[in-house]
Amino acid sequence: MASSFKRLIEDSREMSRRSFLAIAGWVGFTGASAIALYQSLKFVYPNATYEDPPAFKADPPTTYAVGSTTVLIDKRVVINHDPDGFYAISLICTHLGCTPRYFDDVTSDLVAAGTSISKDPDTGQQATKANPALKGFKCPCHGSRYFRDAINFFGPAPRPMDRVHLEVAPDGKLLIDRSVIVDRRFRLKV
Ligand code: FES
Repeated sequence: MASSFKRLIEDSREMSRRSFLAIAGWVGFTGASAIALYQSLKFVYPNATYEDPPAFKADPPTTYAVGSTTVLIDKRVVINHDPDGFYAISLICTHLGCTPRYFDDVTSDLVAAGTSISKDPDTGQQATKANPALKGFKCPCHGSRYFRDAINFFGPAPRPMDRVHLEVAPDGKLLIDRSVIVDRRFRLKV
């Protein structure tokens, strides 16, 4: 009788131990599944965007001398300050989207080779033997070239680079919005 009672006690202890291990296993499994699900959802729906926002601030207008061209390569934007005002160029080649580079002379080699270069329809400038060197942009990918004001004149680029909106922000800095394309005639007068 005493040995049966002892066995009963041992059996019930063994059952409790098994139940505890089973419950602990389920808790661990459920917790790990919840964490995995949370990480998956976070991956699919990140609460942060890693893209550079289209609008950004540059320096105040007084920083840019009249006649200057300022390339903000990390933003892929150029700020030109001409006597009639400021304008900003989206530095994205209209052929296949590479980033053109600015040079003080993008025409004299073409003039020397006898390539006829069209006149810039906006400025009236034309590279000639008497005045062969004009400033502008060359695209490193397939050789398109643009005048300083972003008008294409050589290579496969089908059209000028876009102009984007700029204004003076309340804190006095230039605010450039790459998501807003503006007309070529747009000028910011400060
Ligand atoms: S991407 Fe610029 S010339 Fe092709």
